Amino acid sequence: MQAIVLVGGEGTRLRPLTYGTPKPMVPIMGVPFLARTMERLYAAGIRDVILPAGYMPQAIMDYFGDGSQLNMKITYVIEDVPLGTAGALKNVEQHIHGRFFVLNGDVLTSMNLRGMIAAHEKKGGIGMLHLIRVEDPSAFGCVVHDAEGRISSFVEKPPRETAPTNEINAGTYLFEREILDFIPAGRNVSIERETFPQVIAAGKDLFAYTTDDYWMDLGKPEQYLGAHVDILEGRMPMLDIEPGVPYFAEANVAIDPTAKIGPNVVLGSGTRVGARAVIRSSVLWDHVTVGEGAVIDEAIVASRVRIGSEAVVGKGSVIGHDAVVDDGQVLQPGARLGATEPIKR
Ligand code: GTP
Repeated sequence: MQAIVLVGGEGTRLRPLTYGTPKPMVPIMGVPFLARTMERLYAAGIRDVILPAGYMPQAIMDYFGDGSQLNMKITYVIEDVPLGTAGALKNVEQHIHGRFFVLNGDVLTSMNLRGMIAAHEKKGGIGMLHLIRVEDPSAFGCVVHDAEGRISSFVEKPPRETAPTNEINAGTYLFEREILDFIPAGRNVSIERETFPQVIAAGKDLFAYTTDDYWMDLGKPEQYLGAHVDILEGRMPMLDIEPGVPYFAEANVAIDPTAKIGPNVVLGSGTRVGARAVIRSSVLWDHVTVGEGAVIDEAIVASRVRIGSEAVVGKGSVIGHDAVVDDGQVLQPGARLGATEPIKR
């Protein structure tokens, strides 16, 4: 079986991080998120992956190459203009040979792909959508289905009080090749807004696969940080991570013994933390320098950032690649610092 991982989005909500790193390459516990997705696909027996890309594709291609190091085959198809979540599938039609998975490139979930394949084989239909239940569905695409799981309608971001269900589209699909016949070629098409409703209207069966697995869309800074907290506290299982430690550090990290780090901190490789610095609930990428007495709280700090002595990085701040926070500088909560356009390398 093949899998298509959608990796062409600009990741505007994660800016300025995505000015230096495309969203699929943003690290989760020190490993590019797409590499973790590849591991999951491999574990499900999938060896043939198609990546419709467009935004900073070189960073993805440089890392994964043709996939042979992972014992997989990776085909890249670059979009000159973004084609949307369904247009991207139509654009790779010539590479698709049969049944295939589609994964949103920014969904972290423990859902077992083999379980979904088995469910689809049992139910039949043109496709199956992974759904999860959330408390408040108002920010998501709700999916209504009957007791058999047959989907009848899609309601995008309904007000909480009138939401028809709390089951939402979790961004993993399993399709028969025939679904491609419903997608027009050569233009931007949204699978959620256009293709799914059209498939239903044509009388084709789409089934729901609702599970209680861990699920997080990594599209926004608070979700990215929240996912790390969930991994560090053991709610999202990850084979190489031991939950419950105050912080997770990669190679070559130097921490002054008087610094206070944790809970829920990730330190990328080559990070230096000075005396009396305090870091809480934050993710620091590679080669970040934290000066003496600096305070970082609930922040994301990209590669090679320098945080000066006695600087304060307010809650919810996002600091892009190579930025400098001066000695004594106070960043207000929710600050954004760094590049204002894609960094050319
Ligand atoms: P925002 O700009 O922050 O909304 O992020 P995004 O551009 O990644 O959009 P969104 O989170 O809605 O995208 C969901 C998934 O679809 C991500 O994995 C994107 O990479 C991918 N995606 C979105 N639009 C396109 C597109 O036009 N082409 C391709 N190939 N992938 C896309």
